[in-house]
Amino acid sequence: MQNIGEYVVQHRDRFIKELVELLKIPSVSADPAFSQDVMDTAQAVARSLERAGCTAVEICETQGYPIVYGERKVSADLPTVLVYGHYDVQPPDPMDLWDSPPFEPVIKATELHPEGAIFARGACDDKGQFYMHVKALEFMVKTDQLPCNVKFMIEGEEEVGSRSLAAFVEENQEKLSNDIILISDTGMIAKEVPSITTGLRGLSYVEVEVTGPNRDLHSGLYGGAVANPINILAKMIASLHDENNHITIPGFYDNVIELSQEERAEMAKAPFELEAYKDELDIEAVYGEKGYTTNERNSIRPTLDVNGIWGGYIGEGAKTVIASKAYAKISMRLVPNQDWEEITTLFSTHFKNIAPEGVKVKVTPHHGGQGYVTPIDYVGYRAAAKAYETTFGKTPIPQRTGGSIPIISLFEKELGSKTILMGFGLDTDAIHSPNEHFGVWNYLKGIETIPYFYSNFTEMSKQ
Ligand code: BES
Ligand code: MN
Ligand code: MN
Repeated sequence: MQNIGEYVVQHRDRFIKELVELLKIPSVSADPAFSQDVMDTAQAVARSLERAGCTAVEICETQGYPIVYGERKVSADLPTVLVYGHYDVQPPDPMDLWDSPPFEPVIKATELHPEGAIFARGACDDKGQFYMHVKALEFMVKTDQLPCNVKFMIEGEEEVGSRSLAAFVEENQEKLSNDIILISDTGMIAKEVPSITTGLRGLSYVEVEVTGPNRDLHSGLYGGAVANPINILAKMIASLHDENNHITIPGFYDNVIELSQEERAEMAKAPFELEAYKDELDIEAVYGEKGYTTNERNSIRPTLDVNGIWGGYIGEGAKTVIASKAYAKISMRLVPNQDWEEITTLFSTHFKNIAPEGVKVKVTPHHGGQGYVTPIDYVGYRAAAKAYETTFGKTPIPQRTGGSIPIISLFEKELGSKTILMGFGLDTDAIHSPNEHFGVWNYLKGIETIPYFYSNFTEMSKQ
């Protein structure tokens, strides 16, 4: 019977070409100007599932963008794997920083990807990664080696908070019932250092608005006598961290679980080069919470970051003005056990409390979600680890990472199953940034590794 390694070699060019076609459709969920493209992408995903051997493929309408569903049943006695991914992508801005247009994929070699990488928005996050699962299914179906049942659920609103998916999952528990959820939407430590993501941070995202006078004012006539909302906003934001870079919101750390010294020591064993990290970012020094290492700061500790700030005059030249309003978008990355709704309330109360008289403050929550940790003594983890051992020849390292896929905690709550995160991207793949790319080697290695997860999981579930 044909082996997946050979199958990948044989179909390599077609696998790349199909992904390139999918990447050409600009499925930007955040911007309504792209809504037809997002819908077209759902159609393309549905067709790809059909071609790979899914039956009962459906484009499930929601209040927002549709969810593409497909399944292939082998036997009711066998376990069911539910694959989740997202076909929407981040906006490509800022456009002028792309070396090639974001929706005209090109393959170029880079230092880390001498075999070539596919440059396009969504190449790694998440079209390239969920498509690995479609091709792995194709292999298992075409060579008659699918060992268990499989369901696919690919959504189009992940980058904007998975609003419709939450309702869909609550209403379709039976349809989505499964033994394990499998996701490729994260990364690994390095090409030669396979890792399995065992933790993700939660998120609370808010927008703040500070209003001073009822209209923009001449900064000479009024300057010094009324509160300038931009000055005030900057001061309020600055006060949210203390001199040790701890967050100052009362109660913020109350539910944070500190890792034991043993767990921290275990984490510190993962390969990490501080000098290379700084070089890659062109920074002289790292920065963050006192008492924690860089890898701890970006994974097991909560954060607060301004993602955007605006107001006043930002056009050419100078204009002397005190703006009536100033705004900022703020994200807080949370760790497991911090409740995102509670944190949103704590933020909102505190931010209003610290506002001086003379300005009005409005806080609008955007979206959020809980963090997630996967146990490593679990059959799903062991099945994945063994799959990497087969294709990489190395045991993967468990790694907690800083990004968020908030819907996972809801999966566990509504569907009662755990999630395994088999990510094949690299941190340097520039997801959400200009020149996003996905290594051809990583893409093919993912396709090669996934079928082993299925056979291992099916086998190990019997015991
Ligand atoms: N795939 C990412 C999350 C990710 C990337 C986790 C790399 C770990 C490693 C996902 O598409 C994403 O961007 N999530 C958002 C949250 C969402 C609610 C907009 C994030 O983390 O900012
Ligand atoms: Mn993603
Ligand atoms: Mn993303």
